[in-house]
Amino acid sequence: QPRRNPSSKQRFLLEFSQCLVDFVVQLLPTVEELAVKEDVRKLLERLIRTIEPESRLLSFGSTANGFSLRNSDMDLCCLIDSDERTTASNLVTLLGDLLERETKFHVKPLPHARIPIVKLTLDPSPGLPFGIACDIGFENRLALENTRLLMCYAMIDPARVRTMVLFLKVWSKRRRINSPYHGTLSSYGYVLLVLYFLIHVKNPPVLPNLQQMSPIRPVSKEEIHLNGFNIWFFDDIELLRQRWQSANTETVAELLIDFFKYFSREFSYSLGVASIRAGLLKKESKGWSTEPDPITRRERNRFGIEDPFETDFNVARCVTKEGLFVIRGEFMRASRVFSARPERAIVALAQLCE
Ligand code: CTP
Ligand code: MG
Repeated sequence: QPRRNPSSKQRFLLEFSQCLVDFVVQLLPTVEELAVKEDVRKLLERLIRTIEPESRLLSFGSTANGFSLRNSDMDLCCLIDSDERTTASNLVTLLGDLLERETKFHVKPLPHARIPIVKLTLDPSPGLPFGIACDIGFENRLALENTRLLMCYAMIDPARVRTMVLFLKVWSKRRRINSPYHGTLSSYGYVLLVLYFLIHVKNPPVLPNLQQMSPIRPVSKEEIHLNGFNIWFFDDIELLRQRWQSANTETVAELLIDFFKYFSREFSYSLGVASIRAGLLKKESKGWSTEPDPITRRERNRFGIEDPFETDFNVARCVTKEGLFVIRGEFMRASRVFSARPERAIVALAQLCE
């Protein structure tokens, strides 16, 4: 049954916004789950300190940025505050042996990966029906910073930003387009797309650009540069909330529907790069060629998403031609669900995630 008058459209949008909120709330991690994960982090940190006494083990990724869903993986980063540290690949091997001996985790050290990590999994048990999956990396300070940036964006407008991001994460997993190993996009990539849309596409914007705001106090060199990248952003969210309010009053339903429309029809995949730092950029100006890599013959840069700090890094570099075709097809499919003017919000939601 088509909806006819504007008030029924308004009613649908309100109902759909509420459905989205209810849907993501029931997928949030429980307090118990968060407590178990924190215990695991502490246990692992204690063990690592028997090898490197001056180390810290910090959470990053979804467990630390406010975009975590039930049973999501744990991303941990080991920082070593001493000068005479062993190399990351040596540590991966040492730590792998230690955890194998001392814990019930299944341990898989990957000392020769591009970024050396130890992969851990814990089998499901009554208290932990889905077990735990955890990656431990080393000295990945940029990831800690981009986690903090994402967390700040989540805090500015949790009702709209978190709902939208969490929904897209669930949706992309259910539609099977959340797998860099299979040519589609990581969760991190989807989060950046949402932020790009809310900062640069929406007018008036839903979010300010934290990386382009002026600092309110003098900033030291260490606060600005890390590994040659500018990592500064406005992070006093309490103050920001007092001084800044978005002029955009759209509901989360309207924003989501418009997001699908923009990424199915308007974004220029062939030429454009989505950057939360600088808006829409050109692949050409970044030197991101779409020709296959001359050495590996792997295709690259089909889809361009700039990392907020590591600006020469394409977060969507793993997306293949087929992967992009499927992702765009999914954005279009989602758009069609709404252009068919569904009567009931709950039915539209079910269709989206089917
Ligand atoms: N990351 C990154 N560069 C990438 C991918 C990931 O720096 N190309 C870092 C980011 O700090 C990101 C974290 O790794 O927050 C985790 O990435 P990912 O697992 O994709 O996102 P999560 O939010 O943890 O999503 P999920 O809950 O699906 O694990
Ligand atoms: Mg993760």
